[in-house]
This record gives sequence, structure tokens and C-alpha cells, in this order.
Amino acid sequence: MRWRTSSAFLALSLSAVAPAVQAAYSLQTAYQGDSFFDGWDFWGNRDNLTNGAVNYVSRSTSSQVAYTNSAGNVVIKVDNSTKLASGVNALRDSVRITTNAAFDVGSLFVMDALHVPYGCSVWPAFWAHARSWPSGGELDIFEGVNLQQTNQVAMHTVAGCYAANSTVNVTATGDMTFNNCDYTVAANHGCTFQDARNASYGADFAAAGGGIYAAEFSSDAISVWFFPRAEIPADLRSVNGPPDPSSWGIPMAYYPSSACNINQYFAPQQITINIALCGDWAGQPGVFSPTCGTGNCADYILDPSHFDTAYFEIASVRIYAGGVNTRSSGGAQAASGVIGAIGGSASATSSAVGGRWRASGAALGAVGIAAAVSVLAGVGLFVGL
Ligand SMILES: *[C@@H]1O[C@H](CO)[C@@H](O)[C@H](O)[C@H]1NC(C)=O
Ligand SMILES: *[C@@H]1O[C@H](CO)[C@@H](O)[C@H](O)[C@H]1NC(C)=O
Ligand SMILES: *[C@@H]1O[C@H](CO)[C@@H](O)[C@H](O)[C@H]1NC(C)=O
Ligand SMILES: *[C@@H]1O[C@H](CO)[C@@H](O)[C@H](O)[C@H]1NC(C)=O
Ligand SMILES: *[C@@H]1O[C@H](CO)[C@@H](O)[C@H](O)[C@H]1NC(C)=O
Repeated sequence: MRWRTSSAFLALSLSAVAPAVQAAYSLQTAYQGDSFFDGWDFWGNRDNLTNGAVNYVSRSTSSQVAYTNSAGNVVIKVDNSTKLASGVNALRDSVRITTNAAFDVGSLFVMDALHVPYGCSVWPAFWAHARSWPSGGELDIFEGVNLQQTNQVAMHTVAGCYAANSTVNVTATGDMTFNNCDYTVAANHGCTFQDARNASYGADFAAAGGGIYAAEFSSDAISVWFFPRAEIPADLRSVNGPPDPSSWGIPMAYYPSSACNINQYFAPQQITINIALCGDWAGQPGVFSPTCGTGNCADYILDPSHFDTAYFEIASVRIYAGGVNTRSSGGAQAASGVIGAIGGSASATSSAVGGRWRASGAALGAVGIAAAVSVLAGVGLFVGL
């Protein structure tokens, strides 16, 4: 039983003397090293979901594109040694893997990487999704296409889930670029936040020694942080942690349950890591050409030398359990009722500027400025799964 759901605590906290909530996360699963791939299924087919120009290998044919390197890190990559013959069915070997297990609200998902894939035609993601899509929701924690400068976080759901109107550096450090998560709206654009930091993606990510993406999947909110290597909090530096997200400051992307009932829109989530080429997002002419010029994506993939940067190098993927899950104890109603009360801050004033739980009525009013909802130029079509 969680003390914070009791009405006695709610009354106490509203009188502004609430103590800080201590995070209760502990390591549930660490995927790393030689045993990394044991907990994952390989797709083993062409990309029949997003029309990417890739053949996703099976585990038995994966040794050149999915392996543990001499440093003990996991490499997940696009084949960069095979010259392909021209043709509409040209497919390059790549990887799409999904955890066998699904993780419920109350989980924290972490990827510590030294390198993420980038380059023209390349469309990588580290993301979470329900076994049933779209009804069980999707959270894209790391995703990019072509020479996109910074990471984009997105949620894709059925109708009725939104990103709350958000002010940069107040509720989230990222820029909310679209607020409707409904997969039927704007060709499944999703509700998105764009990181402002170049180190969150591409060559700048690698140059900074990589970093950590962390997503807290709680009944109260979905929050995503990115930390460049030099800024990783002490409680995330070791795999065991235990991590305390309430100490990490304002997340890059923040989706409070007040605008999206997390219990309702998100079923337990599997984690997927994949690298597509071209396809429904990266390959659209209006998406490919702004950063990659006038060529055509299907021709671009024929030359293997174009894929030397199209790889993940991953130190670990970790799942922590023990966060807020009110699914079986009154649902999101209870969660949104206390969301402003669990802030770790003793007054409404400081909670509006300090901690991350700024969804209380008072604080929201203070920052409730209409956010501009702008579709990123050219990103008109995105099929998430
Ligand atoms: C797509 O490929 C997967 C993996 O092989 C397979 O299970 C699924 O049936 C395929 N779907 C379609 C629509 O072909
Ligand atoms: C947000 O904060 C960062 C870091 O302090 C700063 O560089 C950036 O300019 C701020 N953005 C806005 C829109 O205030
Ligand atoms: C990100 O990189 C671009 C291109 O190199 C540069 O113009 C921009 O100033 C950089 N942004 C930041 C915040 O460093
Ligand atoms: C493939 O890319 C890696 C770097 O990711 C590089 O070390 C290797 O030499 C490349 N392979 C070929 C055949 O060029
Ligand atoms: C965001 O602000 C706009 C403009 O004020 C408003 O129409 C919309 O309902 C708000 N959305 C949410 C989720 O609060």
C-alpha cells in the first residue's frame, strides 16, 4: 500500500507540509555484455511495419550486426560492408529487437549508450510499446532521422491523450512541438518534445562520450531525461543505482496524467531497439532532402560506406521497478489528485520553480501559457509501429 494515496496524506500535503517523496526504484533487469541479447526477440523479417529498406536479421543470422564488442559493449548496427544492386527491393541488413518481457507503470527505463546511429537514410529508435498497438500506447524515448540535430521524444496513443501545454524550462526543458498523441491525427505525428541540446543525437552525442536516456513510466506522468556523459547523475552511474528521478531536475519531456491518463492509455510496455532505413519517416522526400540533399533515399542505401555511423554502442539497458503504479488502487483519478502534493517541496511557490511536480493547480495556472503547436517542417507522416 502506498502512503501517498491515502486521503489522510492528501489532506496533510495540501496544508503544505509534505515531506519529499523518496524514490523507491530498484534494479529489475539489466541487459548488458555477453548475455544482452538473451532477453530479446529478433524480428527476422523485412521491415513490414514502417516500409524501411531493411532486412531485420534473425538471431541466428545476426553475428555481423548484433554482437558484444571487445570493450564489453553491445553493438547493434546496419551492415556497412555489402554493396547492394539497385532495385526497388534492395534491402540492407539491420536489427530490430524487442524484449520478451513487458513492464508495467511504475517502471523506469534507462539506456546508457556511447554511440547512437545517424546519417542520411538512417532512422533509429529506442522505444517502448504495448503488445497491443495503438490501444496500449507507445513511448519513443530516443528517435531520429537522417541528419536531424537533436533527439525527439514522442507518445502515440488512441484518441484523448495529450501533452499538457508546456513552457520551455518550466515544465520540461524540451520544446513541445505537437500536443495531440492520437495516432489518427496528423498522420500519427504523436505528441512530441524536441531536445535543445545537440549532444542528444548524432555526431555531437558521440563526441560527448554518449550519455543516458531515462524514461519514468509512472501513473502520475511519463517523464524523459537525457544526460550527456559528463552530466549523468551519481545515482545512474552504476547499474544498481538505486536511481531517484525526483532528484534529477526538470525532464526534457513531461506528460502529466492531468492531460493523458497514463493508466488508461498505457498498457505494460516492451522495449524495442531498431534501425530502419528510409521508410515511412526518414525516406519521405520532404524529410530526406532538407538534411540530405536532392538524392533519393532508395539509391542512397546501395553504398555500404554510407553506414559507418549507423550503429548503437550500448553499455546497458536497464529496467528499474518500484515507482508509482495506481492501476490497481483507484486508477489515475487518485494519481492526478495527489500529483501536486508529492513534489518534494514544502510550498506552492517553490514547487512552481523548483521540483518537477509542477502540475498542481496553482503552479499550472502560473505557467498555463498556450504552447505553440507546430508541426516540424516536412515531418508529415510517421508510422510508429
Ligand atoms: C511481419 O513480420 C513479422 C515477423 O516475421 C510477422 O510475424 C508478421 O506476420 C508480418 N506481418 C505482416 C503484415 O506481414
Ligand atoms: C532553457 O535553459 C537552458 C539552460 O539554462 C538555456 O540555454 C536555454 O536558453 C533556455 N531556453 C529558454 C527558451 O528559455
Ligand atoms: C547545434 O549545431 C548547429 C549546427 O552545427 C549549430 O548551428 C547550433 O548553434 C548548435 N546548437 C547549440 C545549442 O549548440
Ligand atoms: C563499418 O563501420 C565501422 C565503424 O562503425 C568501421 O570500423 C568499419 O571499418 C566499417 N566497415 C567497412 C567495411 O568499412
Ligand atoms: C492548450 O492551450 C490551448 C490554447 O489555450 C487550449 O485550446 C488547449 O485546450 C490546451 N491544451 C491542453 C491539453 O491543456
